[in-house]
Amino acid sequence: MVDLHGRDLLCTQDWSIEELEKTLDLAFEMKANRYDHPLNNCLDRRTFFMFFYNPSVRTRQSFEAAATELGGHAQFLEPKSMRLKSAKTAGETIEDAAHVMSRYAVGIGIRILETALEHYGQGHELLQEYAQYASVPIISMAHDKYHPCQGLADVMGYRMHGGKNLKGKKFLQVWGKGALVRSWCSVQESILINTRFGMDVTLAHPPGYDLDPEVIKMCEENAAASGGNFEIVHDLEEGYDGADFVYSRNWMTSGFYGEMQKNGVDAAKKKEIELAAKYDDWITTKDWMSKTNDAFFTHCGPVDRNAEVTDEVCSGSKSIVYDVAENRLHVQKAIMALTMGKK
Ligand code: CP
Repeated sequence: MVDLHGRDLLCTQDWSIEELEKTLDLAFEMKANRYDHPLNNCLDRRTFFMFFYNPSVRTRQSFEAAATELGGHAQFLEPKSMRLKSAKTAGETIEDAAHVMSRYAVGIGIRILETALEHYGQGHELLQEYAQYASVPIISMAHDKYHPCQGLADVMGYRMHGGKNLKGKKFLQVWGKGALVRSWCSVQESILINTRFGMDVTLAHPPGYDLDPEVIKMCEENAAASGGNFEIVHDLEEGYDGADFVYSRNWMTSGFYGEMQKNGVDAAKKKEIELAAKYDDWITTKDWMSKTNDAFFTHCGPVDRNAEVTDEVCSGSKSIVYDVAENRLHVQKAIMALTMGKK
């Protein structure tokens, strides 16, 4: 019997396949029965805190809509409107904030990305500290390492279009050029969850864009356990060849944090943009898509059109980007119902 009540969600890797399957099943049910599901009142008069250190479109809107559709309320919080202790300022500790917030809300979502941090992993540590002291579930709304709600919404989209059993489907996670200097969280979550579900995952990027080695190791272990495959290539032909799903996304080099500490955020972003500009071919085009197995195109959003992917592909008949964006609502309703809803 799977019981997720009271559980945190920092990464899908922390939940068993049975727990992820239960969440996805409920998300599909909630999608099919959006305004008339038996659990639609499970947050009746309850509050979910959304604590954002960084901006968002999909995550804030979908969590707010999700709480409304479950009969509750999602409250938007920013650190600037609180008095939290930091390395440079006096204020309330995470221990106290987590205890107090738990007295008001049934769950706490947190988003914290690179520009609010000093080093990679610090955001994950912050969520772990909230999880240690809060008596209600802590849900990652995207942090420096992982983006579990996005990973689940992605898989829901692949199942909608590729069938429930994704084993053996070739999934290409490909780096894309661009000016947005993206986090590693969506991409790392994606390769983790897709190797868990037995897909043949190819990670393609130019040299120098390596992701967290611990995540790569987990992907190799996931693939071995699920009967899938995981490989890293630096060649686009190899990547696109025979793919069933293509997900292009820009991400930063590991040098970003050091540069940001030394010369500030703007200088670090400028350096990343200059470096990315060298890789002109790294954009998903109709030509690259023609090498695939008539693949679906996916992206977590916001899309950097005509940098990560051409308009033609992103708005084409095989694009599932809006379905995946919609799925954020359904999976988050399922996560909230299961982890913090009325029993
Ligand atoms: N995919 C995603 O998390 O989008 P936002 O940054 O707009 O929330």
